[in-house]
Amino acid sequence: MSCSLKLTNISYKINDEYLFENINFHLKHKDKIAIIGPNGVGKTTLLKIISGLKKAESGEIEIFHEKIVTEKDFERARKKIGFLFQNPDDQLILPNVKDDIAFGLFNLGFVKNTIQQKVENMINKLQINHLSNKITFKLSGGEKKLVALAGILVCEPDILLLDEPSAGLDNKSMERIGEIIKELDKTVLIVSHNLEFVKQITSKIYHLTQSGLHEVKNLK
Ligand SMILES: Nc1ncnc2c1ncn2[C@@H]1O[C@H](COP(=O)(O)OP(=O)(O)O)[C@@H](O)[C@H]1O
Ligand SMILES: [Mg+2]
Repeated sequence: MSCSLKLTNISYKINDEYLFENINFHLKHKDKIAIIGPNGVGKTTLLKIISGLKKAESGEIEIFHEKIVTEKDFERARKKIGFLFQNPDDQLILPNVKDDIAFGLFNLGFVKNTIQQKVENMINKLQINHLSNKITFKLSGGEKKLVALAGILVCEPDILLLDEPSAGLDNKSMERIGEIIKELDKTVLIVSHNLEFVKQITSKIYHLTQSGLHEVKNLK
């Protein structure tokens, strides 16, 4: 079975002190796993390391069997990765919701009609039609999260890194998003502090601590 993402002995330091040490895991193609842990343990930092937004102190990252070392490697790898940021304000760029969802597709070079069709389909899928003509920066936190997620899913990346995808969502949206992520035919790594949410979606859950990742057993 092919491997989408492999981390070997990834460590990260802040001011000479390890935030975490020796993170090891691999995600097979189309695996869905979650990493949980309390605030400040380094979940977001780990996703940033995988996507090249932060540099690890040591360790090795492989994406689709390619070692990711240089900035050029990360640039190439990032085309295969969709990263939902914890804070949607860091993600949303354009004032109009539809334009923002379309932005990634536009960058990928799709023609206008295809973009419109894909954006409409995603809006229907996420059931966010009521947001589609609104101004992004006036949305609530949860609404922003849904729009940011739409913009990422619409690009159909091979690997999804989702940082707290359920944060700020009401129960109905959370259920809907959970179902959509569960049905995705993609490799998914979810970072969350919501164990109940990730339990519904992922096959394996790890707990992040300073000394590494530990699998959470007995989930039922
Ligand atoms: N740029 C930075 N400079 C200094 N400390 C940082 C920086 N980014 C994150 N941290 C610290 O790293 C720790 C882990 O943060 P983060 O990865 O956001 O944790 P989590 O996502 O698990 O809540 C926190 O203690 C945070 O304050
Ligand atoms: Mg975080």
